[in-house]
Amino acid sequence: MRPGGTLLALVASLMLLLLLRLLWCPADTPARSRLSVEESREDTRGTSAAMRTIWSPVTSVPLTRNSTYLEEKSPQLTEKCKNLQSDLKSLFNKTRRYSEDDYIQIITNIQRCPWRRQAEEYENFRAKLASCCDAVQSFVVSQNNTPLGTNISYEVENKRQIPIRENLFHMFPVTQPFVNYPYNQCAVVGNGGILNKSLCGAEIDKADFVFRCNLPPITGNASKDVGSKTNLVTVNPSIITLKYKNLKEKKAKFLEDISNYGDAFLLLPAFSYRANTGISFKVYETLKESKVRQKVLFFHPMYLRHLATFWRTKGVTAYRLSSGLMIASVAVELCENVKLYGFWPFSKTVEETPVSHHYYDNKLPKRGFHQMPKEYIQMLQLHMKGILKVQFSKCEMP
Ligand SMILES: *[C@@H]1O[C@H](CO)[C@@H](O)[C@H](O)[C@H]1NC(C)=O
Ligand SMILES: *[C@@H]1O[C@H](CO)[C@@H](O)[C@H](O)[C@H]1NC(C)=O
Ligand SMILES: *[C@@H]1O[C@H](CO)[C@@H](O)[C@H](O)[C@H]1NC(C)=O
Ligand SMILES: *[C@@H]1O[C@H](CO)[C@@H](O)[C@H](O)[C@H]1NC(C)=O
Ligand SMILES: *[C@@H]1O[C@H](CO)[C@@H](O)[C@H](O)[C@H]1NC(C)=O
Repeated sequence: MRPGGTLLALVASLMLLLLLRLLWCPADTPARSRLSVEESREDTRGTSAAMRTIWSPVTSVPLTRNSTYLEEKSPQLTEKCKNLQSDLKSLFNKTRRYSEDDYIQIITNIQRCPWRRQAEEYENFRAKLASCCDAVQSFVVSQNNTPLGTNISYEVENKRQIPIRENLFHMFPVTQPFVNYPYNQCAVVGNGGILNKSLCGAEIDKADFVFRCNLPPITGNASKDVGSKTNLVTVNPSIITLKYKNLKEKKAKFLEDISNYGDAFLLLPAFSYRANTGISFKVYETLKESKVRQKVLFFHPMYLRHLATFWRTKGVTAYRLSSGLMIASVAVELCENVKLYGFWPFSKTVEETPVSHHYYDNKLPKRGFHQMPKEYIQMLQLHMKGILKVQFSKCEMP
């Protein structure tokens, strides 16, 4: 190990611990918390007030969320929604510290606008993703895209390489295993507390492909809210270390827990940091020797680097993307219709009810609101453009 490597690893694991508590769908990303400190000093005094007056007076529009209201498409509403979109565009450029209430107000307004899929916007955006990143061919490491005898460069520690010899090569699927691509309807399920009592489970289970993050619970009472169907679930190496003790004494518990995911793929960032590799291979070996139905896949580090570059050009300057945004980006390429559930980085709902950080624990988010994660703003923009749909509240009763 390089000098300083140990210190780096220590700092990294401390931050990881912190982040586990912080994020709704975190990636294993030591420097993730930079998100909250990268605040622009730009002086935008007054814009917050302007924002509030977009709908002034705010109370004049009744807070109805039934579809009848949305289908009315009154000319005033359509006009307001158009304005909202352009106002948001310019506001998103100014990253002064807005309060959580400011953002929730924006989302309340967004929610009132009818959502319609915009095929042209979608095709456009998908084409851009395809040309930068090409999830369809290269989102996971396969024998096709990673020939024997080549080297893989790590995503983050990109000066470091790992040679592809027989022993590794055999862990990879021959080609991308998404045989039914393109999928019609996809659900990307984050772990936000907003899903608690959402009754979104039935809707999620109807999707053709369901993505989930970091081995979340999907059994018992949770399934009403989050469904149980799972086609792909990400695994942060830290959960293997912390919750399953590196698959030593907790191996049986691990196998029991993953048996709930049917024949889903378990997706690991094996080649993002060198520290991820051994533990990811351990997961692979454990599944293989236990002859379970789930299969292990590895994120391709090149794909993730290209994706990070793509989002950086859109202003997402975080050190590393969250797995939520990675998966949402993959979904846009793999699916015709994408809906996001459980993405809500706030401490309360639009109705001011407190929400826990995850749907499966009672931890409240940390007090104080630093900066709207830039990633979430991107998701809101995709929603506003009709490229994907974000579910902000409870799912409607059938
Ligand atoms: C939808 O909301 C409107 C306005 O509040 C109300 O008049 C109508 O009855 C509601 N429709 C349904 C189906 O709930
Ligand atoms: C943000 O600002 C940059 C330059 O300041 C401009 O080129 C870009 O169009 C702006 N984006 C939006 C969405 O307004
Ligand atoms: C892979 O890396 C090794 C060691 O750094 C180097 O000798 C070899 O030429 C590389 N192979 C390829 C195909 O780049
Ligand atoms: C499920 O919910 C019921 C009532 O809402 C409760 O009594 C029960 O303990 C819950 N079960 C679990 C496993 O949380
Ligand atoms: C879910 O919401 C209920 C109240 O509606 C609350 O009692 C419960 O603690 C919440 N569960 C979690 C995990 O936050």
